[in-house]
Amino acid sequence: MTVLVAGATGNVGGIVVRRLASAGVPVRGLTRNPDAVLPAGVEKAVGDLSDARTLAAAFDGVSAVQLFINWGDQSEVVELAVRAGVRRIVLLSSDGTPDELLEGKIRESGLEWTIMRPGEFAVNKIDIWGPAIRAGEPVREAYPDIAGVPVHEEDIADVAVAALTGDGHHGRTHVIRGPEALTHREQIRLIGEAVGREVKIEEVGHDEARADMITNGFPEEVADHILDYFVEWVDTPPPPVSLEAIIGRPGRTFAQWARDHAPAFSPVSYS
Ligand SMILES: NC(=O)c1ccc[n+]([C@@H]2O[C@H](COP(=O)([O-])OP(=O)(O)OC[C@H]3O[C@@H](n4cnc5c(N)ncnc54)[C@H](OP(=O)(O)O)[C@@H]3O)[C@@H](O)[C@H]2O)c1
Repeated sequence: MTVLVAGATGNVGGIVVRRLASAGVPVRGLTRNPDAVLPAGVEKAVGDLSDARTLAAAFDGVSAVQLFINWGDQSEVVELAVRAGVRRIVLLSSDGTPDELLEGKIRESGLEWTIMRPGEFAVNKIDIWGPAIRAGEPVREAYPDIAGVPVHEEDIADVAVAALTGDGHHGRTHVIRGPEALTHREQIRLIGEAVGREVKIEEVGHDEARADMITNGFPEEVADHILDYFVEWVDTPPPPVSLEAIIGRPGRTFAQWARDHAPAFSPVSYS
């Protein structure tokens, strides 16, 4: 029986399909893009989560499915999963803004279910700080001293694989955060260590930081969404979470994440 993974071209889903394929689990990745290239051994299904009518073939012969949030009302997708004979459903939701409607639908589906609620993805830092760091400029930062608990996308994928293929996750809601609280200043220092040069910080106001994010391609509502968290964390920083009980080892550190992603912060070579 096959595992269907939605978001297979994304940060987390891309790792999940690769892990499952290398473990020999039959896996199918969902994408809207017929030309998408998925990792070796991953079957491709083309479909759109916002239109359940496009998903019948994707669900054919599927025993477990990973969905994620943000794509409108996915109630019909859950109903399709039940009709298709899926036994297990795992939802990549969110710690800060969970999709409670979809979570409720999944809890009441009668399937074995697991909800994953990740907090801030460390990989967001590539889009937020990457442009300045790649250009060798100081990072313009409005909240250098707030502490976050960014989580490595590989750890989120590890939790997903455990929930999709392992025992003991049915009926559980896993909050997934990084293992340590680090200020933005500390995170930027660790990225500097990973790329082998000091990254300076230029303190700016909230509105300037917002304008920078929009210039760097963030839609306005996404920039506001992220900055709202930073404002909240001035007084109420999110506590770290140990993943030991879920995946049998601590989550990866931010220093590790920065080393894994050093090329994304290094100057672009045009040679
Ligand atoms: N970034 C954070 O800090 C954070 C925190 C908590 C939760 N989350 C949640 O985590 C989830 C996954 O994030 P990610 O970073 O792994 O994803 P991502 O890299 O942003 O990738 C988005 C994925 O969504 C797929 N997609 C978009 N619209 C779709 C649709 N209508 N039907 C089917 N597929 C669609 C895209 O596939 P194609 O383009 O190939 O179709 C792509 O694989 C998201 O729901 C996000 O809200 C993120």
